[in-house]
Amino acid sequence: MSHNLLKGKKGIIFGALDHNSIAWKTAERVHEEGGTFVLSNAPVAMRMGEIDKLAKKTGSKVIAADATSIEDLEHLISESIKILGGKLDFVLHSIGMSINVRKGRHYTDQKYDWTQKGTDVSAMSFHKVMQTLYKADAMNEWGSIVALTYMAAQRVFPDYNDMADNKAFLESIARSFGYFFGKDKKVRVNTISQSPTPTTAGSGVKGFDGFITYAERMSPLGNATALDCANYTVTLFSDLTKRVTLQNLYNDGGFSNMGVSDSVMDSITE
Ligand SMILES: NC(=O)c1ccc[n+]([C@@H]2O[C@H](COP(=O)([O-])OP(=O)(O)OC[C@H]3O[C@@H](n4cnc5c(N)ncnc54)[C@H](O)[C@@H]3O)[C@@H](O)[C@H]2O)c1
Repeated sequence: MSHNLLKGKKGIIFGALDHNSIAWKTAERVHEEGGTFVLSNAPVAMRMGEIDKLAKKTGSKVIAADATSIEDLEHLISESIKILGGKLDFVLHSIGMSINVRKGRHYTDQKYDWTQKGTDVSAMSFHKVMQTLYKADAMNEWGSIVALTYMAAQRVFPDYNDMADNKAFLESIARSFGYFFGKDKKVRVNTISQSPTPTTAGSGVKGFDGFITYAERMSPLGNATALDCANYTVTLFSDLTKRVTLQNLYNDGGFSNMGVSDSVMDSITE
């Protein structure tokens, strides 16, 4: 189902690791809507080779970049402009990683060099991407930049660990940089706060199965899928949302405004 919402628009999509990735679904949907883009991921993620399948399917080039490296980002952005034949209209930051989560280190017992690495990859990288775009004047007016986040930035989800703090930082960067990008370049910056989604990053969170079932039962519309997130991102990249900026937008089936649901009450009282 295409509405040509992104016809003529050009961009960069970070973070497609495999077909479960939110960025993968987004790349497929952006392609269907007429957008063209460069795919990027960390050099280590390239080794899996999966991204080449997506590149072939969407007629895209792939450029490796560690999103924590300014040098890599400068190269990615200047090459992308050359490949796509002009400045960018959209950028998706779909990047997250916590070594403390991965290695099962408790929130109250973090290894701080792991914490720092996770913060750099999951949050600071968003600032680095935007600063590099801003300095290179790489975005067209009325362009759109989106990053993905989770509600643990606002509420306590104990097993989300240091990623909760990283997401709070990420959302703050979206607002702070979004101000300058809006005022100086007429570019909008938003975060989408997505339901738990079965991907490599998502499934790494301890107790993920319980987590996703709980959210499903709490949400009047059920959990938003990766495809739902891709569709929402397409609207944010399109000209239909030109003055939506500095927002954290929930794509979560209503979860974020729930107190309790019948389904969850029934399972507690039975
Ligand atoms: N899956 C969920 O439940 C969920 C919910 C809300 C938000 N999110 C967010 O969505 C985004 C995408 O995650 P996903 O769930 O699709 O999982 P994913 O594992 O498919 O994607 C994470 C991506 O980050 C990339 N990455 C890691 N380190 C990097 C680096 N140094 N440079 C460049 N890229 C790097 C990985 O290679 C991978 O492609 C993340 O920000 C995640 O926190 C996920």
